[in-house]
Amino acid sequence: MDLTEKLRACGQEHLLDTEGLSEAEREAYLCELAALDLTVPAALRETKGARGQIGPAKGLSIPEIEERGEEYCAAGREAIRGGKVAAVLLAGGQGTRLGFDRPKGTFNMGTKRRPRYIFQLLIENLLGVCEQCGAFVPLFIMTSEKNDAATREFLKEHAYFGYPEKFIRFFVQEMYPCTDFGGKILLEARGKIALSPNGNGGWFSSLKKTDIAKEFPAVEWYNVFGVDNVLQKIADPAFVGATILSGTPCGVKYVRKKRWKEHVGVLCIEDGAPSVIEYYELPEELAKARDGRGGLLYSFGMTLNYLFSARFLDEVSVQKIPLHAVKKVIPCLDAAGNTVVPKKPNGYKFETLILDMVRLAGDCLPYEVERSEEFAPVKNKRGRDSVRSAKRMLWLKGKL
Ligand code: UTP
Repeated sequence: MDLTEKLRACGQEHLLDTEGLSEAEREAYLCELAALDLTVPAALRETKGARGQIGPAKGLSIPEIEERGEEYCAAGREAIRGGKVAAVLLAGGQGTRLGFDRPKGTFNMGTKRRPRYIFQLLIENLLGVCEQCGAFVPLFIMTSEKNDAATREFLKEHAYFGYPEKFIRFFVQEMYPCTDFGGKILLEARGKIALSPNGNGGWFSSLKKTDIAKEFPAVEWYNVFGVDNVLQKIADPAFVGATILSGTPCGVKYVRKKRWKEHVGVLCIEDGAPSVIEYYELPEELAKARDGRGGLLYSFGMTLNYLFSARFLDEVSVQKIPLHAVKKVIPCLDAAGNTVVPKKPNGYKFETLILDMVRLAGDCLPYEVERSEEFAPVKNKRGRDSVRSAKRMLWLKGKL
């Protein structure tokens, strides 16, 4: 099937309009079109499977963790010392809510005189663990095409904040086309398809396509974490040890939700197995439900800090991770052929989410952490989960 037929067959023939492009631009555009994954917008037509039977999850509480703290830490330290744990930093997001046009990790949480960049805070945290364990943890950083060069440049310029370069690897996640609400792929400019990073679940397929894992054959566990929780502990020995000793293929760090409406994924039991439901997909009656003591029944808020066994990752198929269509503002062409940035969401970005991997794991260890110790997300410009709220928490912990 040639390109024209292929595009017609999936209702995307509007992309064939190359008016106004020079010969070279036209050629480059047609090459890009030929390589485009046209199965992605088709996901819109697939009816989402209904959710299974939902019930509350049970986890390892803070007092329970403290009781066996020494044992967990010792097991975790041993694994780290043996090179069995790698850290995977998810830094491919666009951070649109923060409204910062550089990679989020380069955001300065300190002052001009005493900068404290997000990348710096995370790396310093990891360096602390390395020192404690007497070994470096391989650090794999996922970027996207949109921020790869800027991220590498920034970290190099700051000498990786003291982390040895030989333990750092970068890999780039894939991009998916964006569509309007009718499923038509959008153009960002003439001869330029609107593309966006394929979500934080993209780390898994992108990492698999590289040789990074082969370079570190001893790795048995991947601690995957987001760039925007500036207070989290990375490769936390107690968490690593508790997960290993639990015999499950996955560990998840959770905080107790503060409000029923809090914007965090919630860990629950779905058809007998652990599963995470995104906040916008959790039915209101479940989000508001109370337990016998008046607390939230579904209170395990995800902090985007997971530990996955390499064996589970080897066995699970990438195709099993579902695709989510998320309403977003997407820069696109107007009728006059100019690029505009709409004020309201105008279409869908397509994303795979790391939280869906918990369900695929079949079993996991939910591991509670204290919010004031480990959860300061930087999501918004103002208000909740903003730079201001995170700075305050850093300051209270003496990290600013
Ligand atoms: P968010 O869900 O907060 O998305 O990412 P975002 O793109 O960073 O921010 P908004 O929604 O546009 O404001 C949670 C974590 O997942 C990573 C982010 O970098 C962050 O660490 N992420 C997200 C990726 O690595 N790739 C993606 O495609 C999306």
